[in-house]
Amino acid sequence: MKLAEDSQLALLGGTPICETPWPVTNTIGPEEKREVLEVLESGVLSGFRAGAGEEFLGGVKIRRLEREWAARFESRHAVSFNSLTSGLIAAIGAIGIGPGDEVILPPLTMSASATSVLFYGGVPVFADIEPDTFGLDPRSVRQRITSRTRAILVVHLFGCPADMEGLLAVARDHRLPLIEDCAQAPGATYRGRGVGTLGDMGGFSLNIHKTIHCGEGGVLITDSDEWAQRLRLIRNHGEVAVEGLGLANWTNIFGGNFRMTELEAAVACAQLKKLDGLTEHQIHLASYLTAGLSEIPGLRLPPPTQEGTQRVYYVYPMRFDRQVWGISRELFLRAVQAEGVPLRADYQRPIYLEPIFRRRCPQAFCPVAEKLHQEELVFGRFCRWPLSEHHMDRIVAAFRKVWAARSELQRCS
Ligand SMILES: Cc1ncc(COP(=O)(O)O)c(C=O)c1O
Repeated sequence: MKLAEDSQLALLGGTPICETPWPVTNTIGPEEKREVLEVLESGVLSGFRAGAGEEFLGGVKIRRLEREWAARFESRHAVSFNSLTSGLIAAIGAIGIGPGDEVILPPLTMSASATSVLFYGGVPVFADIEPDTFGLDPRSVRQRITSRTRAILVVHLFGCPADMEGLLAVARDHRLPLIEDCAQAPGATYRGRGVGTLGDMGGFSLNIHKTIHCGEGGVLITDSDEWAQRLRLIRNHGEVAVEGLGLANWTNIFGGNFRMTELEAAVACAQLKKLDGLTEHQIHLASYLTAGLSEIPGLRLPPPTQEGTQRVYYVYPMRFDRQVWGISRELFLRAVQAEGVPLRADYQRPIYLEPIFRRRCPQAFCPVAEKLHQEELVFGRFCRWPLSEHHMDRIVAAFRKVWAARSELQRCS
């Protein structure tokens, strides 16, 4: 990468700010290899067996992961799954959602947040989000409550905690359980507490794209003994275990095979130890980048949060203002990308626009989410190890260059 000597935009034939590819993130090292080798040498790649007894709860690595996860996230129970998608299905099952029951959730999220409700014949009801946190807007949630509402599912999108004070107040007023989807936010805090511990259950994803991963995996946390037990039953064919566990009157619970293997648990144990270091690096790069970008007009950067609240940066999100720039978001994106910066705008559209939800949910319109999707949102996976301040400087240089030459872009648009 080289300094911005050439003020001619790369999109118009100039030299790009970043001429070499961005480094690839690979956090798998000797620690993970050692853990996995232990499992391979034992020959026991999964310790689970469906049915009451010792093996109902999985093997040594699963139990260790759950112990260490519960300790790190300050929760009474952690229950592992083969993905957070499976974990969310189990969470919705655990709180007893049935046909026609409504669950309120945001439209800007990964589809698994909403399909988990469909698995039980429930109805996802979409409430709008707040433009700075990208999380559910408590006022919009209140407007969506009906006599059929049974739960609220909050998503801490892009690593930013939603307005939990407002959302917990709605949940309390209507006696609704609140599930936190923290797939993108491990390590984020809200007023001094880790996300995932504020509601009744919190779920984390360990898929390849997340800050820490094991290929595929998920973990749910809860302080409730009963919900933890329900989660374990749904994870592992609980229908054949309830009697042996002395729970014969739990006749509504049945499960699937949502079990994580010992191999993935082994990787996850080693990765968990890296979470805090990787998160600190993310936060450091993000605040360095925010300082660098703050003088460029027409970009709403992640705003400061209150004392005790810390976002993490699964992605670094910004809101683009086309009035200030005088060009479309698409042209802005193309110009920045041509400078070699992997800026994107292609996050999931509001999911109520997908055919399955158009057919199965009440008609929804969430203007804040729509505007973000159609006009404003730009983001990058910038703040990750092994990227450094040097890369943040390049991003800032590219944005400055495009800003300085925007009149040329205006002419050609
Ligand atoms: C917000 C959100 N919820 C749920 C999921 C599902 O997680 P998994 O891929 O582990 O099933 C994801 C995955 O990207 C996500 O981003």
